Amino acid sequence: MIKVLLSQEIHPEGKKLLEGKFEILTAPDTSQQTLISMVKDVDAIILRTTSKITKEVIENAPKLKIISRTGAGVDNIDVKAATERGILVCNLPGVNNLSVCEHTLAMIMHLAKQLSFMDKAVRKGNWNVRNLNLSVELEGKVLGVVGMGNIGALVAKKCHYGLGMRILAYDPYIKEKFIDCEYEFTDTLEELFRKADFVTLHCPDTPETKGMITRDLIYSMKPTAYLINTARGSLIDEQALIDALKEKRIAGAGLDVFIEEPPKLNNELLKLENVILSPHSAALTKETTIRMSTEAAKAIVDYFEGRQPKYIYNIKELEQKGIRFFYE
Ligand SMILES: NC(=O)c1ccc[n+]([C@@H]2O[C@H](COP(=O)([O-])OP(=O)(O)OC[C@H]3O[C@@H](n4cnc5c(N)ncnc54)[C@H](O)[C@@H]3O)[C@@H](O)[C@H]2O)c1
Repeated sequence: MIKVLLSQEIHPEGKKLLEGKFEILTAPDTSQQTLISMVKDVDAIILRTTSKITKEVIENAPKLKIISRTGAGVDNIDVKAATERGILVCNLPGVNNLSVCEHTLAMIMHLAKQLSFMDKAVRKGNWNVRNLNLSVELEGKVLGVVGMGNIGALVAKKCHYGLGMRILAYDPYIKEKFIDCEYEFTDTLEELFRKADFVTLHCPDTPETKGMITRDLIYSMKPTAYLINTARGSLIDEQALIDALKEKRIAGAGLDVFIEEPPKLNNELLKLENVILSPHSAALTKETTIRMSTEAAKAIVDYFEGRQPKYIYNIKELEQKGIRFFYE
């Protein structure tokens, strides 16, 4: 029987699509050793975010034919090594756009209205906190969107039409305006960081974007500005952000992602009052979790039943190698 390995448990709705058709194995933890020890006989892997399919994992999986991601990002897969072996890498572009967008909006509104601080104060009997005038209105404020792809564009649209914010965007790979919303591109990241009241990051983790949010950029922000990151922790110089937050050089931050996940308990970010945190959960709404598990499972079912999976991330490279996946 064809064996499918789940790198972590998936929603039962997705599992139902596999049951009876395949033998299903579930990794008991997300460590590399566990993954390597379990891939020997598997034909397919459904991969969530935490585990990594490295070259070593692929070398230990001689029967592996398809890796199906439960999300859009493939930065936890050595795609080159997979392609060299002719393994399909399937992903789900757009599957969690709305959830991540709404999480970003929640962070923007939470920070603007200082909800964490207010909530703690009320619980301690500090009613007078209402007279500190800590919260701000969002209408007319400038939102700087770094990475105007699927999620960034949706955030821009909702913040513009829903909240009346002015939008600046930075994305060197998009030259033409493509969304139905008033916004301006800045030529440089520096300009966006200088002008924005809220900066929100929506670009992928690539060699180019690693550490792109430098100390200089963070320190160039308005002292009243907030930085939100629901993309990847590696984009930001995390120590510089901690320093800026401690020195109140910026007003605060909202972070769903970290350089090290989960962050160590002694990570200073966990102690700062002017930052709100979530556990890389922006995508994990009830609706998206079901969608991610069912769509990732469907890619596996389609492949083994002779249909082309909807999204094959490395299809061009595979076709260049002479491997075709069209089953007319
Ligand atoms: N927190 C979560 O749970 C979660 C869930 C889904 C996605 N994400 C993250 O969000 C990111 C964005 O997702 P998406 O679906 O919008 O991706 P996307 O590919 O549609 O958009 C990414 C955009 O970033 C732009 N970009 C690339 N390099 C850039 C650079 N150097 N500077 C500025 N822009 C650059 C690209 O041109 C593209 O327009 C993902 O890559 C992923 O890291 C996080």
